[in-house]
Amino acid sequence: MEKLLRTMLQSLGTNRKAHRLARKYGLRFGASRFVAGETIAQSLAAVQTLNRQGKMATLDHLGEFVSTQEEANEAAAMCIQTLDAIASSGVQANLSLKLTSLGLDLGYELCLANMLRILERAGQHGLFVRIDMEDYAHCEIALNMYRELRETYANVGIVIQAYLYRSLQDVEDLGEIGANLRLVKGAYKESPKVAFPQKADVDNQFLAMIQKHLEGGHYTAIATHDAAMIAQAKRFIAERRIPNEQFEFQMLYGIAEDLQDRLVEEGYRVRIYVPFGVDWFGYFMRRLAERPANVWFVLKNIVR
Ligand code: FDA
Repeated sequence: MEKLLRTMLQSLGTNRKAHRLARKYGLRFGASRFVAGETIAQSLAAVQTLNRQGKMATLDHLGEFVSTQEEANEAAAMCIQTLDAIASSGVQANLSLKLTSLGLDLGYELCLANMLRILERAGQHGLFVRIDMEDYAHCEIALNMYRELRETYANVGIVIQAYLYRSLQDVEDLGEIGANLRLVKGAYKESPKVAFPQKADVDNQFLAMIQKHLEGGHYTAIATHDAAMIAQAKRFIAERRIPNEQFEFQMLYGIAEDLQDRLVEEGYRVRIYVPFGVDWFGYFMRRLAERPANVWFVLKNIVR
């Protein structure tokens, strides 16, 4: 039953009509628990609150289903505006983005040109940009673009998903170019041909990836709300005396806030992923699919 619900939510999250409908009605059904607002100003207010709590942030302007060059360029302009807003407000934050929102499906060169503009501006502000990892169909091309960008820019990192069979090798290969990686379990619906179907296998590979990248001396963002994984990572970090400056814990806005606070109190670096924008539906569906109990939270919001 839970598996079926998860599959339904993941499919709904990729449905264009549902996206259009959601956009029309604004942040509803409890989505504001996970999405900081529709505008840059609202997201910056959320970041200021997080900063006061001792947490850094990464801002993500939500956008999926880009189908024209104009839309891709607009998304890039929004990233640049967000970087400018981070710099002028002085908040502790960087930027996360998705390559498909910058036109990856329309053409490699279009997306690359947008990334170059964004990284150039980020560099001027001394800010870092993280490329989120999307579904498996985009994995290889995203890694290729990352490698190309990394030849010129040091202020760019990418995400590797533990559920993909290939990922431990990717972590090893990316270690050779000193990549700054965010390591996650993975949020998309993938075939057992490419991804571990069992949670235990995903968890094992997740830990192995964290250990490999830390051991190689590379900057590692450990992105999870899983208290058991965090405890094991902390143990490894203490045993190997990994310096605090070489890693950070990351969590999503509105999730596991107690755990976020505890890590801050313990003196770890903590960064919260803060999504904003009118195109919130796909992101919201992925958060519901991760924890189908969240669906009751949505139903309560509809009934209220
Ligand atoms: P797991 O799913 O095992 O959950 C552990 C516990 O955390 C649960 O028992 C529950 O208590 C809590 N929890 C987890 N998800 C919750 C939710 N939605 N609502 C409420 N509680 C929840 N994925 C991807 O494919 N590409 C990417 O680029 C990113 N980027 C990214 C950035 C950051 C900062 C984070 C934290 C995560 C991502 N992810 C991602 C998502 C990631 O792949 C994964 O789907 C989620 O983090 C959920 O997995 P956990 O590691 O938390 O473990």
